[in-house]
Amino acid sequence: MQADTVEAFVNAVPLPMVMIDPDARLGAMNPQAGELFDPTNLNRHYMTAIRSPVLLDAIEKVARSGEAVKVRYSRSQNMKEVIYDVTVSPGRIAEGPVVFLCFEDRTDTETAGQIRRDFVANVSHELKTPLTAVMGFIETLRGPAKDDPAAHERFLGIMARESERMSRLVSDLLSLSRVETDERIRPDKRVDVTALVGSCIRALTPMAEKLSVDLVQRGTEDPVIVAADSDQLTQVFTNLIENGIKYGGSGGEVRVEITPIAREPMLRGPAVEIAVTDYGEGFDPIHIPRLTERFYRIDDHRSREKGGTGLGLAIVKHIINRHRGLFKIQSAVGQGARFSVILPVV
Ligand SMILES: Nc1ncnc2c1ncn2[C@@H]1O[C@H](COP(=O)(O)OP(=O)(O)OP(=O)(O)O)[C@@H](O)[C@H]1O
Ligand SMILES: [Mg+2]
Repeated sequence: MQADTVEAFVNAVPLPMVMIDPDARLGAMNPQAGELFDPTNLNRHYMTAIRSPVLLDAIEKVARSGEAVKVRYSRSQNMKEVIYDVTVSPGRIAEGPVVFLCFEDRTDTETAGQIRRDFVANVSHELKTPLTAVMGFIETLRGPAKDDPAAHERFLGIMARESERMSRLVSDLLSLSRVETDERIRPDKRVDVTALVGSCIRALTPMAEKLSVDLVQRGTEDPVIVAADSDQLTQVFTNLIENGIKYGGSGGEVRVEITPIAREPMLRGPAVEIAVTDYGEGFDPIHIPRLTERFYRIDDHRSREKGGTGLGLAIVKHIINRHRGLFKIQSAVGQGARFSVILPVV
């Protein structure tokens, strides 16, 4: 192969690729490799351009053995960590032996892998805590508390609560995975949001009463039609109202307000806002960007005590994305919280 043929060949490869020529110079590099190595290094000794010890080692090894190797190479690029799988392979041109380096960006796969590992670790941890408690109580009921009816009553109560938590966690996980699966399928049923919110409020009124919270509906009482999946929207408002009662109930009131919007600029058309506001303790806005992450809780201990799995808002966010809507959270310490959902109307 002639040097210019090699250059054409390197340029035809869609991944970043460089060639080290028989004189140990950077003989060719395609435009994609410009992200990795300064093009002014072309025709200079490869060691001036390639400073990574991993790559230098690999090049030497290939030049010596004549066999290809694959190495992992990570570097910081535009303030981000980028991970490459680099295939270093030997070749030969008219002038003598050469080495090719071809770079495959693996960052996305790596990140997805990390997210999956974190998720599995979180789920296991969430299940392990209640399971350990239940197993501990079984042990106690069989042993020391065998003949103590008062202890039976108390421990069975705790075991029931812990089992409920596990069951809720499993159903939230299933629901999250279902929502993620249909996220790309747009819902197409015509649903009246006003009526739907009304029925969520009716369903949660007993819970609100038990905690002495006034649950009130404000805003328009007229039907507002959106293209939606009514079960999923029910899940959204149920979680937001339930959170308002559970975490903001000390304010004494949770208000759900429905406001039609003539034109929502982000959605480029008419919309409706459903805002759930409480007057409780609120939280530092620093948490807002992370609240919709799976398992994120502000006050881990308190929210676990209230039986929360920390999956509710992650599910809410996916459902709203599927409905092409917007989700906004506002809060400040001591000022309550406002969770607002904006949906396009049909
Ligand atoms: N209205 C609110 N006021 C104060 N904190 C809130 C409010 N809503 C949510 N949070 C905080 O956000 C966290 C995440 O809420 P999310 O609904 O995702 O989970 P959860 O309610 O703990 O569990 P689940 O909804 O699965 O039962 C809660 O644990 C709580 O710390
Ligand atoms: Mg919740």
